[in-house]
Amino acid sequence: MFLDSNKMKKYTQFLVLGSGIAGLSYALKVAKYGKVILLTKTRLEETNTSYAQGGIAAVTDKFDSYEKHINDTLIAGANLNDESIVKMVVQKAPSSIKSLMDWGTHFDKKSDGKLDLAREGGHSEYRILHHKDNTGFEIQRALTEQVKNHNNIQVLEYHFAIDIITQHHLGQKIRRKTGGVECYGVYALDLKTDEVRTIISKSTFIATGGVGNVFQTTTNPTIATGDGIAMVYRAKGLIENMEFVQFHPTALYNPLERPSFLITEALRGSGAILKNHKNETFMDKYDKRGSLAPRDIVARAIDSEMKSEGENFMLLDGTRITALEWEQHFPNILKKCSDLGIDVRKDYIPVIPAAHYLVGGIKVNKTARSTIENLFAAGEVTSTGLHGANRLASNSLVEAIVYSEIAAENSVESIKNVNYNVDIPEWNHKGTNEPEEMILITQNHKELMQIMSNYVGIVRSDLRLNRALRRLEIIYEETENLYRRSIVSKEICELRNAINIAYLTIKMAKQRGKSIGLHYNIDHL
Ligand code: FAD
Ligand code: SIN
Repeated sequence: MFLDSNKMKKYTQFLVLGSGIAGLSYALKVAKYGKVILLTKTRLEETNTSYAQGGIAAVTDKFDSYEKHINDTLIAGANLNDESIVKMVVQKAPSSIKSLMDWGTHFDKKSDGKLDLAREGGHSEYRILHHKDNTGFEIQRALTEQVKNHNNIQVLEYHFAIDIITQHHLGQKIRRKTGGVECYGVYALDLKTDEVRTIISKSTFIATGGVGNVFQTTTNPTIATGDGIAMVYRAKGLIENMEFVQFHPTALYNPLERPSFLITEALRGSGAILKNHKNETFMDKYDKRGSLAPRDIVARAIDSEMKSEGENFMLLDGTRITALEWEQHFPNILKKCSDLGIDVRKDYIPVIPAAHYLVGGIKVNKTARSTIENLFAAGEVTSTGLHGANRLASNSLVEAIVYSEIAAENSVESIKNVNYNVDIPEWNHKGTNEPEEMILITQNHKELMQIMSNYVGIVRSDLRLNRALRRLEIIYEETENLYRRSIVSKEICELRNAINIAYLTIKMAKQRGKSIGLHYNIDHL
């Protein structure tokens, strides 16, 4: 099916990194025009997408309007958004969602056959399409089925992309400031055989998702270590807005569980209310929208209440939600709580904020092109300008699907003028040690997560950011040293990537200075 000049080298017109909503929908679109290889680091279904609960935002109701959705997005983003991008995404959203439905995704409907729309924090209307409380799982199911049955798409599970291939690998010097970098494909580690494959493409699409595992508490599955952003950063592509890390206000407080189980914001949309341990509602003190304020405000309010009360968690009172609504709309949360002995009809749910979503990432323009030639990107890995300083709930699945379609259209056009680069050398890594020093890797990753949560989390200060940077330097040096000596492994690569992400987050938080949206520094209010 593919040109295969030797065992380790593969050629493909379209190369996709990632199997979430962005990677799969892009693959399905471009597969009509050429051969696709899609890499994913574990199973096809293990993605942030699969964990998405609340839903996907789009204007589909006659009482709603593009203007309202645009306005809500700009307000949540503290007007740091690129307004032309907000308009474009909001206007394209309904037709992209139709693609999802055409591929077999089911969204809940009311008895009259109309879509059952939910409401979440920061939305002025009911506009969230959802499938019970596991919308992402349903989207992933439908797209996975389509991809598995597509003759033009070759899926390589348990293939870890290490680095994108550029002129650097041909021995040429490239500089961050001068640009002109080209992408020729990737080096990928086959995790079943431990061999590194060279995959050469005409067009490469990065959809490797977020960075939750750079923090101690996160809703993200373990695949989210910022690999795509780190690869592009090392290849001298432009990365931006990394200081804007979104903490979801209500992850279930269950200290030994990783990732943290999410308690969807849609529950607050249905009437659940945040309370402190004195049984007082406290959100009105912080914002007139109460429990439905945008999530940066809610997360900071919870953080502040926890600190002033000296408690490890706050409480979510869902007792006014009817039994029927719990069963029909929130069956998975109901089951999770009941498994832990929480009866949601009379008990409050213990909640804490957890790292959830990265607003920044690989800078792409409105054609989904990164600053590196032949390299497109979409989904959580990107910074498009849609979210500004804070993402509105349920605007990320929609951004991913809209931008994947845009990337598909443009990469189909662009490969007409690209030839394979046939001079690419095979992977050459000089490290020889077996990874027997795994403890050095895991311990450094744990330290990194502590540093990021304690000093670069919901509330920052100049002192904390400087301290984080100093601590990070030590971990960086130790890890680079270890990387040079060791046989390449997923764990060491993920740690290097997480360090890159931490560095970029701290650096951009220091540069941003003044507090805005998700970036909150008590020295620059
Ligand atoms: P992902 O779905 O994360 O996919 C990333 C893919 O890249 C994976 O296949 C992974 O294996 C692969 N990958 C990563 N690194 C490598 C590598 N080095 N080599 C090979 N493959 C690699 N958003 C909403 O809009 N609405 C919601 O209701 C919502 N709920 C959420 C609930 C939870 C618990 C979480 C965690 C997120 C939620 N989000 C929600 C955010 C949203 O789910 C994500 O932003 C979105 O799914 C990201 O999709 P993606 O395709 O960009 O990346
Ligand atoms: C949620 O269901 O609360 C998550 C929604 C989102 O992250 O957009």
